[in-house]
Amino acid sequence: MRLTTIIFSFVLISLLTACSSQQTSIESPNGNNTIDFFLDEGTPFYSVHHQGKPVIEASRLGFELQDLPALNDGFEITSIEKSDFDQTWTQVWGEKEEIRNHYSELKVNLQETLEPNRELTIVFRAYDDGIGFRYEFPEQPNLQEFNIMDELTEFNMTDDHESWWIGALQWNRYEYLPEHTQLAEVDTVITPFTMKTDDGLHLALHEAALVDYSSMNIEHTGDNKLKANLIPWHDGVLVRASTPFVTPWRTLQIGETAGDLVESYLILNLNEPSKIEDTSWIEPAKYVGIWWEMHLDKSTWGSGPIHGATTENAMKYIDFAAEHGFDHVLVEGWNPGWDGDWFADGVVFDFTRPMDDFDLEKVAEYALDNGVRLMGHHETSASVEHYEGQMEEAFQLYKELGVRAVKMGYVGHGQEIFWTDEDGNRNYEWHHGQHMVRHHQRVVELAAKYNISLNVHEGVKATGLRRTWPNLMTREVARGQEYNAWGSGENVWDGPGNPPNYVTILPFHRNLAGPFDYTPGIVNLYFDEYKPDNRINHTLAKELALYVVIYSPLQMAADLPEHYEERPDALQFIKDVPADWHDTRVLNGEIGKYITTVRKDRNSEDWYLGSITDEESREFSFTLDFLNEGDSYIAQIYRDSEDADWDSNPYGFVVEEMEVDSETEFTVNLAPGGGQAVRFMHVEE
Ligand code: NOJ
Repeated sequence: MRLTTIIFSFVLISLLTACSSQQTSIESPNGNNTIDFFLDEGTPFYSVHHQGKPVIEASRLGFELQDLPALNDGFEITSIEKSDFDQTWTQVWGEKEEIRNHYSELKVNLQETLEPNRELTIVFRAYDDGIGFRYEFPEQPNLQEFNIMDELTEFNMTDDHESWWIGALQWNRYEYLPEHTQLAEVDTVITPFTMKTDDGLHLALHEAALVDYSSMNIEHTGDNKLKANLIPWHDGVLVRASTPFVTPWRTLQIGETAGDLVESYLILNLNEPSKIEDTSWIEPAKYVGIWWEMHLDKSTWGSGPIHGATTENAMKYIDFAAEHGFDHVLVEGWNPGWDGDWFADGVVFDFTRPMDDFDLEKVAEYALDNGVRLMGHHETSASVEHYEGQMEEAFQLYKELGVRAVKMGYVGHGQEIFWTDEDGNRNYEWHHGQHMVRHHQRVVELAAKYNISLNVHEGVKATGLRRTWPNLMTREVARGQEYNAWGSGENVWDGPGNPPNYVTILPFHRNLAGPFDYTPGIVNLYFDEYKPDNRINHTLAKELALYVVIYSPLQMAADLPEHYEERPDALQFIKDVPADWHDTRVLNGEIGKYITTVRKDRNSEDWYLGSITDEESREFSFTLDFLNEGDSYIAQIYRDSEDADWDSNPYGFVVEEMEVDSETEFTVNLAPGGGQAVRFMHVEE
């Protein structure tokens, strides 16, 4: 990774041996956000202000440990270190090429005044777009191996904020529609957890750099008080650790607008730079695949007369990909294990041998001969122990076949991942606890060894680790497009699939964590031939706009080749839109209502726009001042027709062109449940 350092300064403001004051603070580079730290009779607390107003009121810090005294009081500050950091780094791929990492840091070193005199360090970083802090447990004689039984970190909010959330610890992992209530109705929720204050400030709680720790949920403990709630191991321990040890960063993104949250790179900035030196094999890509047809029941994952992953069918998809310029062809259901109840019997999956009617080598070679690559698929069915026994051989095989990306699956209920202990007992773990965080780390490092990038479904939530491991490209880990093929309504929405407003929540909620393999681009919206009771709850133009609104460096054209053949007009946009960007801006947005995003292509002067709405029709006007001043562009517009409506006329669709420049006043009209996609094609002189 190229690292462009613009300014780098490290100023040690005070390093005291016995700190007289028991409080200290820092402010972000432009003074927007302030963090105060203090000890109240030896107990650590912090608070956060934005433009002088409290955002997080005095909130407690510390831990309860197993069979050891708690690490939460009796402290004194032994030293304080303050520093500034300002560096611009280049993303291997992403929403923005150059990212500025600019913050003020406060490191507070604490020690218990009485025996066992243990030490704990808390590091705070104040950014202009939010704050982050983490705990460090230094190497020390009186704290070596330890088990965390509670992380006491609080986030005491100032009011009963409007909140968007998904309940934690549920059987279907993170795959629920977000709820929209006041904070008072929140119980224990996953992160990102998004709030809006009465003053219009937008807040998102999450975490960064989740490595060898348990995922953090947020628990509402009463009034407006929130607290870290870590996912337990099977035996109730939350985290197994030994010094030296660091926790993930606890993060709060703070934006004046909803769009500010989307334009914040705080989560990435709090992760370590890439550990992969040669990243030339990590490529953003668009892919098609033998996938939607199984979700429609046109074919099956398992063997039989309508098995989807046959050599012949894969070659048909490769021909389609080659003709239209798609980079990968995903093939699911290629390996033994899918017959029968694979949800329960994942231990039967074989990751190195294809089914009889699928000639793996022939397909992989045919793909390469046609300038396409096979995308691999490892559905583990959450039988992680079984998978780990084969995964190295499986990645090696894919590498030999020229595969550069593998889609991972962990279908299985919330707490059904087991490992077998020395006595032969199966211990059942949650998908997002420390056990699985460790597993996913092993997978990403092993995949990197074999030059393979990952697309993880049902895994651990994203926390910005893609900066450190750029082969960890995208994830689902939320309700994706597939719910439109078979999903029943759960909470909030009582129709099938995802309601029209779902994708207008995602950018400000799930997607703050990182890229989402939502798999957009369904152009046959009713698919009555296969599933007459299901449909896509969007207009056609909105399905196209999702390519700009929902970021993923591996972006799928999810529909069937024959459906695209019927809609060459819509397919054109899917072929043109990039999966890698130089810049991203959010022109407008309200959580759960609408959003307009523009992104500049990383490899040309072209810009793209995606605008989407909920069930309401909307009109927006703005000047195209993001375009190069003085240059001409052809706007290729894919929009809802005047009479389009997601419910009654989703195919109301118009493709038109107009000449524009940076001074053009541009109007976007969105139908109810509609959208608009635009390519601003730069006209070369
Ligand atoms: C769930 C995934 O989200 C989906 O994309 C995949 O097709 C199935 N599991 C089977 O692996």
